[in-house]
Amino acid sequence: MSVREHVLCFNKYCSLTSCLLYCCIFINLVNGYSVKNCTVRGSLKYAQNINVFCDKRSLHFVPDNIPDKATYLDISNNVIQKIIKEYFSQLSNLKSLNALHNKIREVEEGAFSSLVALQELNLAYNKLTNILGGMFQNLRNLTVLHLNENLITNINFSAFSPLISLRKVNLSRNHLKKIGKVQPLFLLPQLQEVHIGSNGFTSFQTSELSNISLRLQVLDLFQNPLKVFSITADIFPHLDNLVLAFITENMTWDVQDKRYLQSVKHLNLSGIQLPLEKITALLQTFNSSLVSLRLHFLGDIKVRALIRDVCLISPLKFLGLQWNNITAISKDEMQFCTQLTELDLSNNKLYSVPAVVSSLPGLRFLDLTFNNIKNISSVDFANLTQLRTLQIYGNVISFIEEFAFKDLKNIKTLMIGSNRLSLNRYFKKDLQKLEILDLANNKLDSVRRGHFDSLNSLKNLSLPDNQISFIEAGSFSGLTNLIFLNLQSNKLSQSSIKASVFSRLPNLKTLLLNNNYISYDSQEPLEQPPFQYLRKLKILNIFSQAHKGMLYLPSNLFMGLWNLEELQAENLNINSLHPDTFTHTPYLWVLDLSRNDFILLTTKIFLPLQVLKTLHLSKVGLQSLDFLINANLSKLHLLHVSKNALSVINETVIQSFPTLIYLDLRGNYLSCDCTNAWFINWTISSNDTEVESAYELTCNYPDKLKGHKLLDLDIGSCNVDVGFFCFISTATLVSVTLLGTFLFHFLKWQVIYAYYLFLALLHDNKQQRKPNGLQYDAFISYNVHDELWVMRELLPHLEGEQGWKLCLHHRDFEPGKPIMDNIVDGIYSSRKTICVISRHYLESEWCSREIQIASFRLFDEKKDVLILVFLENIPSHQLSPYYRMKKLIQRKTYLSWPKPGEDTRVFWQKLRVALETKGNSELEPPIGWDLGVN
Ligand SMILES: *[C@@H]1O[C@H](CO)[C@@H](O)[C@H](O)[C@H]1NC(C)=O
Ligand SMILES: *[C@@H]1O[C@H](CO)[C@@H](O)[C@H](O)[C@H]1NC(C)=O
Ligand SMILES: *[C@@H]1O[C@H](CO)[C@@H](O)[C@H](O)[C@H]1NC(C)=O
Ligand SMILES: *[C@@H]1O[C@H](CO)[C@@H](O)[C@H](O)[C@H]1NC(C)=O
Ligand SMILES: *[C@@H]1O[C@H](CO)[C@@H](O)[C@H](O)[C@H]1NC(C)=O
Ligand SMILES: *[C@@H]1O[C@H](CO)[C@@H](O)[C@H](O)[C@H]1NC(C)=O
Repeated sequence: MSVREHVLCFNKYCSLTSCLLYCCIFINLVNGYSVKNCTVRGSLKYAQNINVFCDKRSLHFVPDNIPDKATYLDISNNVIQKIIKEYFSQLSNLKSLNALHNKIREVEEGAFSSLVALQELNLAYNKLTNILGGMFQNLRNLTVLHLNENLITNINFSAFSPLISLRKVNLSRNHLKKIGKVQPLFLLPQLQEVHIGSNGFTSFQTSELSNISLRLQVLDLFQNPLKVFSITADIFPHLDNLVLAFITENMTWDVQDKRYLQSVKHLNLSGIQLPLEKITALLQTFNSSLVSLRLHFLGDIKVRALIRDVCLISPLKFLGLQWNNITAISKDEMQFCTQLTELDLSNNKLYSVPAVVSSLPGLRFLDLTFNNIKNISSVDFANLTQLRTLQIYGNVISFIEEFAFKDLKNIKTLMIGSNRLSLNRYFKKDLQKLEILDLANNKLDSVRRGHFDSLNSLKNLSLPDNQISFIEAGSFSGLTNLIFLNLQSNKLSQSSIKASVFSRLPNLKTLLLNNNYISYDSQEPLEQPPFQYLRKLKILNIFSQAHKGMLYLPSNLFMGLWNLEELQAENLNINSLHPDTFTHTPYLWVLDLSRNDFILLTTKIFLPLQVLKTLHLSKVGLQSLDFLINANLSKLHLLHVSKNALSVINETVIQSFPTLIYLDLRGNYLSCDCTNAWFINWTISSNDTEVESAYELTCNYPDKLKGHKLLDLDIGSCNVDVGFFCFISTATLVSVTLLGTFLFHFLKWQVIYAYYLFLALLHDNKQQRKPNGLQYDAFISYNVHDELWVMRELLPHLEGEQGWKLCLHHRDFEPGKPIMDNIVDGIYSSRKTICVISRHYLESEWCSREIQIASFRLFDEKKDVLILVFLENIPSHQLSPYYRMKKLIQRKTYLSWPKPGEDTRVFWQKLRVALETKGNSELEPPIGWDLGVN
């Protein structure tokens, strides 16, 4: 059975007539923007960069409907085994193709030959064994090629020859074994970077590669078991970066002329397994041009023996000494390294700042991260007047001596996070040029006035993940240049963020206050709104406040934030917003209110946000987007409303966002019937808006289509039979309606009675044919807006707990049968009819027909079949347009659903009693009842 089901024109909003008319104006499907199995980024209309993401979807094949205009295609992390010619035959605009992490064993010859614009091709982490001759046909613009982490053993001699623009190739971690196999690479005219690490090469000899000089700049040979490294001709005059890390064999170093490697500036000898004297000899071959040397993973003893000499051999500027288990380095050990400007000692076992540091006065960059340093003494950084960056995070520093930073007159960046500092008075003096101070993840509990007094150049202050609960007024007042202040994940409460705290930060653009303990107990305006002086603030994060959440946003909380562009206010346990909340932030671009439990969102809240481009309202319990229709969000580009309870996406709503380019609706309760026909058609045909994972959206209703894909729905049947039938039926309908209206006007009551008597008669006849009679205990009449309540509350209680059998139209109606028949059958084969009454219900035309039939039955059978359940409190005067309802209420007892938080047990008990009564009450016939809605 195919997924495409013929769906009856089964509209919960519109009448049969208007639905038919409406469906008739559908246009045919066009090639569209939402791509099956993929996500598209970028507007097809303004085609600049169209990025198509089909990654991580367990695909066995490349989807066949990728838009021709795509410039980037990501098919990585799937299970594709073979690349065939048809896959990319249309994609002549593609610039980058990412097929990383698949199971590709085979690429057909010429499979990429249509990709004439391709610049980057990533086939890493696959199962290729052979590179065939025609594999890269036509890829004349390709500049970057990743073939690393495959099983390549052979490369056809002419495979690379089309790649005349290739600059960079990575063939590391394959099984090539012989350097001769990559020789064709070295013939490519533009080649600059070659990565051929870990291929089992046992020798590297230039005589096997080329006799003419090459443009090569980077040569990466890591982890090959080289026995010979031989350069016998000057073929690398431009070589700048040579990687010989983790060479595992006792290699013979044969570089006949020092000039052959004279341009090498960067050398990586990390983890090289040569004896010390061989390394020293090797280093001698490099000219004094060498500026950077990496000696990671060599071990404490070997590396310390080496560093005595390295600076004598070459006047290095950068020395990398990571992962060597170094515990200390004395001044003598590096006495010839005074020209060093950058020293990386991270990931060692230093228990204090090594003494050698202060004897390297030229240092501009020093990295001491991830060691075991406990204290900083006043001499540790003495003499380092040139230092620009000090990274010392990830140690166990709990104490810093006074004047420790006094010589760091030019330091701009100090990263001292993830230590054990509990005080921050160390920044009172000195450090006048400091621009970035990172104190994240320490043990600070307060910020006091004067602590940051001298930091008048500071732009970026990060204090997240501390225990700060108190900030003294004026603590930040010297920081007139501060742009970025991060206070997230502390213990700040509403009383810690007073206006006086943020009063003298005239240039602050970003303030992060998320994950604190800020909470308000009402929407009442605050006397002193905390952000009132932050006139230039552009980004404010207040999301995820701990414990009970922020609960309320005071109506003037954002007062003063005239230039705010981005507000992240998700997950705050807020139920409602005051209409004035955003009146102070007219330039907001990005607003995130996701993961709150809104009971009501009104149009008014959004009216001040005239330039809003991105709105996040995911997981906020929305049942409808109607409140946005008149919000005038004419600039909205991105709308995120995933994980709500939306069932129908209405055209009016979508049309109210003229510039929408992205809509995320995943995880809603979408209805698979004609009510969504417009939306389905629009999703497929729109060239301007991408519906996120459109082809993955699933139906929630009707029950028999649950789990099916929304876009697989055959909306053609909404449209009955286009063309002639459309015309005829419309014309007939119009005539009948005219005639009906005419008759109705003059013979109102006669018509109504005739109609119901007719239906009842019809039904009685059927009943006689079906002796078993009542199939259900109750027919449920409700409006689609209340479907959630019916599904979550009514159904589980009545069917689950009390064991009644209910008739629900979306579930129990026979498809294909006329709706009226369904309703009549439903009501007559149920003992009772429960009407779930809300404002929506009263407004709905359909449901009133249900009531009409039920109340006719009441008159016809003299049985008390109606049970009225009021979902919301509707004052009597609002009921006056619904005379019939009003009269029913006066006559009958009715049940009201308790307010949120109140006990529901009494309600269920009453409902049970109402369902149990046999109900043969004497009732007057409904003479003089009004039709209901007028
Ligand atoms: C290939 O690159 C050249 C130079 O960047 C460019 O002019 C040309 O348009 C590119 N070819 C294609 C088919 O994109
Ligand atoms: C080349 O591939 C190796 C192995 O996968 C990887 O470790 C390395 O980072 C890559 N290098 C570049 C520059 O892509
Ligand atoms: C370089 O020249 C030598 C001697 O003429 C020859 O044996 C070798 O094959 C040539 N190498 C390449 C890669 O052309
Ligand atoms: C700073 O440098 C001077 C001379 O350059 C030297 O005498 C002094 O010992 C150095 N200070 C420290 C703490 O190493
Ligand atoms: C969409 O919703 C609006 C507001 O609720 C309503 O007026 C309109 O009739 C609906 N349109 C359709 C096609 O259902
Ligand atoms: C989308 O673009 C296609 C081809 O460019 C065009 O035929 C179609 O009419 C467009 N669709 C809409 C809804 O504008």
